[in-house]
Amino acid sequence: MIEIIAISEAQIESFHRALDTVARERRYLAFLEAPPLEATRSFVLDMIAQGNPQFVALSGGDVVGWCDVRRHPRSIYAHGGVLGMGILQPFRGQGLGTRLITTTLAAAQGAGMTRVELSVRENNLSAIALYKRAGFAVEGLSRNAVRIDGVYENIIQMALLF
Ligand SMILES: CC(C)(COP(=O)(O)OP(=O)(O)OC[C@H]1O[C@@H](n2cnc3c(N)ncnc32)[C@H](O)[C@@H]1OP(=O)(O)O)[C@@H](O)C(=O)NCCC(=O)NCCS
Repeated sequence: MIEIIAISEAQIESFHRALDTVARERRYLAFLEAPPLEATRSFVLDMIAQGNPQFVALSGGDVVGWCDVRRHPRSIYAHGGVLGMGILQPFRGQGLGTRLITTTLAAAQGAGMTRVELSVRENNLSAIALYKRAGFAVEGLSRNAVRIDGVYENIIQMALLF
C-alpha cells in the first residue's frame, strides 16, 4: 500500500535519497546527482513556506516518488509554476505517476495557478505519455539542450492551462 501525502520536514532526508537515486540513473532528470542535503532541505522548506504543492509517495515510510510544482516568483509569471517528478525504478509502471501528478495538479489549481510548465528529455517516452494523458500540450523543442558524456539530447517544453 503506497500512500501519497503532502511533504513535511520529516520526509526531507528520504526525499533526498530518492532524488539522488533517480538522478544517478542519468536518463531522466536535469541533474546527475541530488543537490547537497542542505540545499534540498532549503528547497523543501521554501516550498512548504510558499504553499507550493509538493507531494511524496511513501512505501513503508520511505519516499519512493515525488511530484511538485514551484510557482514562479516574478509577478507577471506567478500564475504559473514548473512541475518536476520522479519515481524509484521498482515502483514505475503501476499507476503511481498518474496518482502523484493528479494530486499535485489539483493542488496547483487549488492554489490559484492557471499554468503549469515542464521540461522533459525527448527520449523519456514514458514521462511524455503520462504528461499528455494529464492534459499537457507540447509548446516547444530545445535542440541539443542536454549533453551528457558528449551525447546531445533535445528537450521538449510542455504546459497545461487550467
Ligand atoms: C515518468 C514517470 C514519473 C511515470 O510514472 P509511472 O508511475 O511509471 O507512470 P504510470 O504507471 O502512472 O503511467 C505510465 C503510463 O505511461 C505509458 N508508458 C509507459 N511506458 C511507456 C513507453 N515506453 N512509451 C510510451 N508510453 C509509455 C503507459 O501508457 C502508462 O499508462 P497506463 O497507466 O495506461 O499503462 C516514472 O516512470 C519515472 O519516475 N521515471 C523516471 C523519472 C522521470 O522520468 N521523471 C520525469 C522527468 S521529466
